[in-house]
Amino acid sequence: MFLIPFCCHAGGTDSMEQICKSLTLNQWAFLEHFYSTVCTTTWLCDNRAPFHLTKDVNGFEQVVLWNPRGASARVNLNGGQVISWRNHRGEELLFNSSKANFKVPKTVRGGISACFPQFGKCDALDQHGFARKRMWKIDENPPPMRLNDSRGKSYVDLMLKPAEEDLKYWPHSFEFRLQVSLALDGNLSLVSRIRNINGKPFNFSFAYHTYLSVSDISEVRIEGLETLDYLDNLCKRERFTEQGDAITFESEVDRVYLSSAPCVAVLDHEKKRTYVVRKEGLPDVVLWNPWDKKSKAMADFGDSDYKQMLCLDGAAIETGVTLKPGEEWTGQVELAAIPSSFCTDNIHPRLKLF
Ligand code: BG6
Repeated sequence: MFLIPFCCHAGGTDSMEQICKSLTLNQWAFLEHFYSTVCTTTWLCDNRAPFHLTKDVNGFEQVVLWNPRGASARVNLNGGQVISWRNHRGEELLFNSSKANFKVPKTVRGGISACFPQFGKCDALDQHGFARKRMWKIDENPPPMRLNDSRGKSYVDLMLKPAEEDLKYWPHSFEFRLQVSLALDGNLSLVSRIRNINGKPFNFSFAYHTYLSVSDISEVRIEGLETLDYLDNLCKRERFTEQGDAITFESEVDRVYLSSAPCVAVLDHEKKRTYVVRKEGLPDVVLWNPWDKKSKAMADFGDSDYKQMLCLDGAAIETGVTLKPGEEWTGQVELAAIPSSFCTDNIHPRLKLF
């Protein structure tokens, strides 16, 4: 009986998420088996939860990932941007600005987008690079990934190649593959693989620009960046050393922390929720909150939105990444949102290693 709504799910993804929540694991296993053996759709394969290609309310293509427990994620093909990540209770974990513009095909202020081939604004390239402004394609046949365990995961593989226009400002041919996946435990992972298909080496910087949703920025604490050196974007990138214990927010913050450990945690006391960001191939961490004055200066950001967000980006900025012809780089993050009965020492066993 539970198959019927699934066969009709194109009509509305919200009802589909409700249905997911009500399924037992056995039902889900049966459903997967049904899809992988009976359906001929190319989206599905063994051991993999299906994803759903849909259009958002403005008609732009979007991929919906969901897991058997009702967690979900949405990825816009425009920008290759993760626009939503919800836990099994349907709570949104990523921040989207109250003035985010979903009506035009451009980067939405919020979610997670890949900054490539540069983070920040150094030369003729757009701030944070062009990758987040381009239309991505679904990659139906990506080369296999090292240590990729797809069991029970819902995932999509996207691909970006340079447009003519991009080559004018950044004359390097590349293939950028991005896999976004939602695991059985609700963790969200992004894996980027960037290959140099140029005749010459190139260098780039990179960040997963990640807007996390928090209850009140004044009640939030960051652990895992203590004692690190950082470049302060508010002081012309001058280098400082973090002195305090855990980091808290009382004014605008715009910093690049250098060579951090793989795990950084964001503790949200009011929500009793801790985000754990695990990264690999990404030595640096960007921490950003625009606070009140800068918020008012951004057209697509509500005046008080800064209270409900912070950006914590796994990044490769200080030295960037150099790829020789034919070489490939991989940079990945895994995000978990766990209840805050938590201390930093407990992070590692609770998170599966890459
Ligand atoms: C942060 C940068 O990561 O992104 C800030 O550190 C920047 O300097 C912010 O202002 C927002 O950038 P954008 O291009 O999305 O407005």
